[in-house]
Amino acid sequence: MSPPRRIVVGISGASGVIYGVRMLEALRAAGVETHMVMSRSAEITLAHETDFKVAEVRALADHWYQQADIGAGIASGSFRAMGMVIAPCSIRSMSEIATGVTTGLLTRAADVMLKERRRLVLMVRETPFHLGHLRTMTQLAEMGAVVAPPLPAFYARPTSLEEMVDHSIGRVLDLFGIDSGLVRRWKDPA
Ligand SMILES: Cc1cc2nc3c(=O)[nH]c(=O)nc-3n(C[C@H](O)[C@H](O)[C@H](O)COP(=O)(O)O)c2cc1C
Repeated sequence: MSPPRRIVVGISGASGVIYGVRMLEALRAAGVETHMVMSRSAEITLAHETDFKVAEVRALADHWYQQADIGAGIASGSFRAMGMVIAPCSIRSMSEIATGVTTGLLTRAADVMLKERRRLVLMVRETPFHLGHLRTMTQLAEMGAVVAPPLPAFYARPTSLEEMVDHSIGRVLDLFGIDSGLVRRWKDPA
């Protein structure tokens, strides 16, 4: 049973909320249905880091849910999806996912992806990491998650912040087999 072209997008309160915004835009452009949940902290970073309103971000998703709505479809393993990406992923959300002690819909949906053995990509944003963060990331990798911090690729010769963001978004979508057209590929004649 192949899942519908549908991806769950979590936006948590790490710096780089623009990654979540661009993820929704890129998935829409690629014709992939999105189901979005944003943490309260992400709403705060959105106001600090961008001119977007929460309603504008919600409008970029096909479906959106309140963080407290733990009865939403995406909280269940029976809900079909290609997987989930958390862009950006805070240390707090990452740590909840690693323990399984989830306190809201965002981390519950991620927990479901792991238990159903679906793709879960975490764009973890923090620096520097202490040993506990690194151990938690190891644990998540062992559990099947893909830990993909949004680090710029300078070989792509980005000339703007937008290009740097888009490259990272494109590389994450590569992990789902979605060619967004956003990646300048190394030595690829195509
Ligand atoms: C402007 C701003 C930037 C932040 N940047 C980060 C960050 O890069 N990484 C991180 O883990 N937390 C960051 N935080 C702290 C998180 O928002 C905080 O730990 C929060 O509890 C995360 O909750 P959530 O995982 O439910 O979104 C930032 C907070 C603010 C207000």
